[in-house]
Amino acid sequence: MTPSLSIPPLTKDLARVLIDADTISRRVDELAQKINHDYKDITEPLMLVGVLKGSFIFLADLCRRLTVPHVVDFIAISSYGQKGDKRGEVRMLMDTRENLSDHHVLIVEDILDSGNTLSYLIKTFKARNTKSVSTAVFLDKPARHEVPVEIEYMGFEIPDVWVVGYGLDYKEQYRTLPYIAEMYPKK
Ligand code: IMP
Ligand code: MG
Repeated sequence: MTPSLSIPPLTKDLARVLIDADTISRRVDELAQKINHDYKDITEPLMLVGVLKGSFIFLADLCRRLTVPHVVDFIAISSYGQKGDKRGEVRMLMDTRENLSDHHVLIVEDILDSGNTLSYLIKTFKARNTKSVSTAVFLDKPARHEVPVEIEYMGFEIPDVWVVGYGLDYKEQYRTLPYIAEMYPKK
């Protein structure tokens, strides 16, 4: 049986498609090209560190377009809103398996919201004798920034709405939608 390539329809929770799959694919191409160019002279593999779970689809698409040598690792963090953590507090739940020292590190994240997660990760990784720490972030919600974070590879700016798809969830649902959809605000 041929796998179906049809686009899953919007369910009742989803208001509209904000970024369609073709637009996503073209943008990931552009980001990968830029990364390939910027790291063309590195002498050891670029260390991609995906932030679980939201980055897994973006990371999978991005790394398969890289021509520079690279390895893939993951971390898991807990941030506000999860199990009663304080707002702004970020904790490492699972660290990388690889030692990051003496490597160029590229953190791959789904979305820049308050900036707390990324500012914590950049600071933590820079303290580990890394050669460099950069970030590739699929989405940015500028209206919600609380701490300044510099992003080298940014996918799309979006308004202050809850979005799902392409790795991002609402209560663990919708991560595998091939597009970014805006949810209806919860009452
Ligand atoms: P931060 O506030 O920048 O630390 O981001 C915290 C995390 O909240 C992100 O890594 C996402 O996992 C999650 N998040 C923020 N906005 C959205 C959204 O619109 N949809 C799904 N997840 C989101
Ligand atoms: Mg995340």
